[in-house]
Amino acid sequence: MTHLLDPMDLTTEEIDRILELADDMMADPDAYADLCRRKKLATLFFEPSTRTRLSFEAAMHELGGDVIGFAGADNSSAAKGESVQDTVRTVESYADIIAIRHPKEGAAKAASMKVHIPIINAGDGGHQHPTQTLTDLMTIHALKGRLGGLTIGMCGDLKFGRTVHSLIRAMSRYPGNRFVFISPRELKVPRYVKEDVLRSDGNLGYAQFERLDQTMADLDVLYMTRVQAERFFNEEDYIRLRDSYVLDNVKLKDAKEDMIIMHPLPRVNEIAAEVDDDPRAVYFDQVRYGKFVRMALIAVMLGVA
Ligand code: NCD
Repeated sequence: MTHLLDPMDLTTEEIDRILELADDMMADPDAYADLCRRKKLATLFFEPSTRTRLSFEAAMHELGGDVIGFAGADNSSAAKGESVQDTVRTVESYADIIAIRHPKEGAAKAASMKVHIPIINAGDGGHQHPTQTLTDLMTIHALKGRLGGLTIGMCGDLKFGRTVHSLIRAMSRYPGNRFVFISPRELKVPRYVKEDVLRSDGNLGYAQFERLDQTMADLDVLYMTRVQAERFFNEEDYIRLRDSYVLDNVKLKDAKEDMIIMHPLPRVNEIAAEVDDDPRAVYFDQVRYGKFVRMALIAVMLGVA
């Protein structure tokens, strides 16, 4: 893979290799402390971020490399009207690899067409977010011991949530996975993503519900998401839909003992704070895995591992 724009840019063999390397890096980070010496990562973030940007930067520091970049379009020449393609052609003179986040669907792909260094899509609008997916796969693999044979519930804003689009695509390739999509009617999974599930061999298809209690007892993984306020066209709809699902201890009473509760974060209201003490809540473990999987990805894409 030259660029990582979509989770399907990675074969399942490449994913296995990245996850294995990430495990080794987590077990013995010192062994990798000089792997990217004198290499530079540029983080170009045209949209808000806490975890994705900081985990990319922390990952590069852990590998002994350097980081340049900006956080917020207002701090770059985008504010003067520069195109994404001109920005990346400029950054190519300063860096060896680029992680880019942008509010427009397809921005990372447009960027990749103009440069000769690897581009990583760190989120393009309501489309895809492949490195969150690597984080999620590492979490599921570590905590459930497998990536197939699982019933995965995804709940919340499945229309605009790019993390679920990428995770569905990636998980649809593993045998025996069954998807359960739980959302208000207005925030259902887009058709192109559902078609991927149907097209991919191995998975057992999907079911759709509007209420969590209709399916809670079946789930091995519950992936909660935030209603994506910034992608709504009017505030009224957002206010009406934002609290459609608030996961609390009462709602969890039918869930399996070994179900895991995931969330890409940031959380707003969709998981009550009381759930954080439930041993099934693993969203802060996801954050930790995210740094190591990005270390592995950077090393592989730079050709040093
Ligand atoms: C997600 C994103 O930016 O898509 N956050 C993340 O990268 N961990 C999810 C979200 O913003 O709701």
